[in-house]
Amino acid sequence: MVASQDEHTAFGGVVPELAARAHVEIIDGVIAAALREAGLGMAGLTGVAATAGPGLVGGVMVGLSAGKAIAMARGLPFVAVNHLEGHALSARLEAEAPFPFLLLLVSGGHCQLLAVEGLGRYTRLGATIDDAAGEAFDKTAKALGLGYPGGPALERLAASGDPARYPLPLALAGRDDFSFSGLKTAAARLAEAADSPQDRADLAASVQAAIARQLADRSVRAMARYTATHGGAGRLFVVAGGVAANATVRRELEAVAAARGFGFLAPPLRYCTDNAAMIALAGAERLRAGVTDPLDAPARPRWPLDQAAAASAPTHKAGRKGAKA
Ligand code: KG4
Ligand code: ZN
Repeated sequence: MVASQDEHTAFGGVVPELAARAHVEIIDGVIAAALREAGLGMAGLTGVAATAGPGLVGGVMVGLSAGKAIAMARGLPFVAVNHLEGHALSARLEAEAPFPFLLLLVSGGHCQLLAVEGLGRYTRLGATIDDAAGEAFDKTAKALGLGYPGGPALERLAASGDPARYPLPLALAGRDDFSFSGLKTAAARLAEAADSPQDRADLAASVQAAIARQLADRSVRAMARYTATHGGAGRLFVVAGGVAANATVRRELEAVAAARGFGFLAPPLRYCTDNAAMIALAGAERLRAGVTDPLDAPARPRWPLDQAAAASAPTHKAGRKGAKA
């Protein structure tokens, strides 16, 4: 069950206060609709999972409180799920993805490579030092007047463009981390001079190709490091998150995986972008493993999957917009 908010369109991005209010207004209806769709009543539930972060806490607290209320009223076990773990496990919704596997998690707020050893066991192999890849899609789309979220619109425009028209550099070549802010700025500047429909399509295709190229380049480096520690075991490369819905990105990643002897898996498109099914799966897997959370589990604006790496080697400075890795 996915409900989307359109009140942000006029602002070209998500407005936290509007988001939180919209959550409050819609949450009861969304829960009722999800139960209806699943053919379940409250009595059919065996546990409740809710996202507890990371992200804008206003919205997170609405869902978290609703989940806790249901768990308390029905006497059910409760699981506070990390949104990123939902993405990390999303490929397991419809396919076999046994642990361990190598994961590229690439969305609007996050861009990182992780060795997924098991439930709750993640080792970071690379992350963005500034913006996430989805942000580069969104900002370029905005500069081209395509609206928000920009990724799908930019992909449609790129279909009729020439990806070789605008040469864009590969940021942080030779490094394990990502950087997209330079690309974002370059694209915005080029967009100002992209007058004809063909210019615009070419720019969209060039930016999309540059993003895919960087994602593939860092993935190849991560595959080498992953192989050094895992040997022949777990040679599966999974890509998840909103940007994994992009066909060019999927194609490039599948190609490098095949060339390095990795299997390749990406969730169906509806499970790439944010959805409740992946949160339910993460909750169900935790419940099965006997892991539950108390009803005072807090909403967490920041919640890295690899907490040790994030603490010892932050890839970003804590800034106004917070952690993107
Ligand atoms: O995973 P997600 O729904 O939310 C976050 O957790 O961030 O990812 C949203 C991001 C947005 O930046 C959106 O533009 C991007 O994923 N996205 C795409 C496509 N579909 C969604 N980017 C490129 N191509 C797409 N088809
Ligand atoms: Zn997400």
